[in-house]
Amino acid sequence: MKFLIFYFSGTGNTKMILDQYVCHFQEEGHSVDIRNIDDYFNKKIEDNLNIYDKIGLFYPIHAFNAPSNVLEFAKNIQKLESKKPLFIVKTSGEPLALNNISSLKVKSILKKRGIILENEYHYCMPYNIIFRHSDNMAYKMWESAKKVIPYDCKEITAGQKRKLKYIPCGRFLAWVFRIEHWGGRFNGKRYKVKDECIKCGLCARRCPTHNITIENGEFKFGKNCLMCMRCSFHCPKNAIKIGLFEKWKVNGAYSFLPNENEEERHKKYCKKSYKKYFERIEQRTK
Ligand SMILES: Cc1cc2nc3c(=O)[nH]c(=O)nc-3n(C[C@H](O)[C@H](O)[C@H](O)COP(=O)(O)O)c2cc1C
Repeated sequence: MKFLIFYFSGTGNTKMILDQYVCHFQEEGHSVDIRNIDDYFNKKIEDNLNIYDKIGLFYPIHAFNAPSNVLEFAKNIQKLESKKPLFIVKTSGEPLALNNISSLKVKSILKKRGIILENEYHYCMPYNIIFRHSDNMAYKMWESAKKVIPYDCKEITAGQKRKLKYIPCGRFLAWVFRIEHWGGRFNGKRYKVKDECIKCGLCARRCPTHNITIENGEFKFGKNCLMCMRCSFHCPKNAIKIGLFEKWKVNGAYSFLPNENEEERHKKYCKKSYKKYFERIEQRTK
């Protein structure tokens, strides 16, 4: 089978999941071409999608939706000559069923282009905004994802469909939450750089929408912010202030290593949902 996978990953979680998928597909003898949606900002899609057997789309959930660059990217895909099966893979910080609605819009955009959703998977990965999960929790999430991904890959290659359940009024709710796309652009212009900044330029070089420019040592934040957190999450000096969401900022990569001694933050937060999520994976992989 020949796969073409498009992905967006703000801070790396979704890319980690993608790498696992690619390994498993290749181990099963399939060929996989990967495209980073970062590379399509203001650029046309040159690929001929007609030559592939299945299309994959990977992204992090942003406010119960796909990030705005993913929607823009989907709109730029050509209408295909014949229908193609699609699998969507998403990551998010919490396992709430409300997150399932995040594919409704992108699914309908792609359907009009002949790319039809057949499989959909969702993995919990540590938050890159709101609060920092403990490394132990991040480890648990990552181990669970790695455990279940081979089963999910097998379903895709075997043509066994799997859809997530959408809550009632999901389409309307997703539409309401898409205010985040506008809010991100509004808030992004309010980003500031603190004195701790060493002007390494990592943020500007890696911004997926080229929204950060440095002129004569001064940082400028434009109007194309996706709120993906790449700049502030990976800033080596934690020197970027993220506007109205400064209190929710998470800085620095997770180790994904077990650390039993580390205190779990917000122990009660979505406790039941996380428990159910981990139990579901245990059940499925028995
Ligand atoms: C602007 C923004 C909005 C987010 N919204 C949600 C959300 O609605 N639900 C959720 O569970 N996680 C949410 N998250 C957390 C991310 O989906 C999660 O940390 C994801 O794994 C990040 O993936 P990445 O590292 O590939 O960008 C949000 C993160 C950002 C930056």
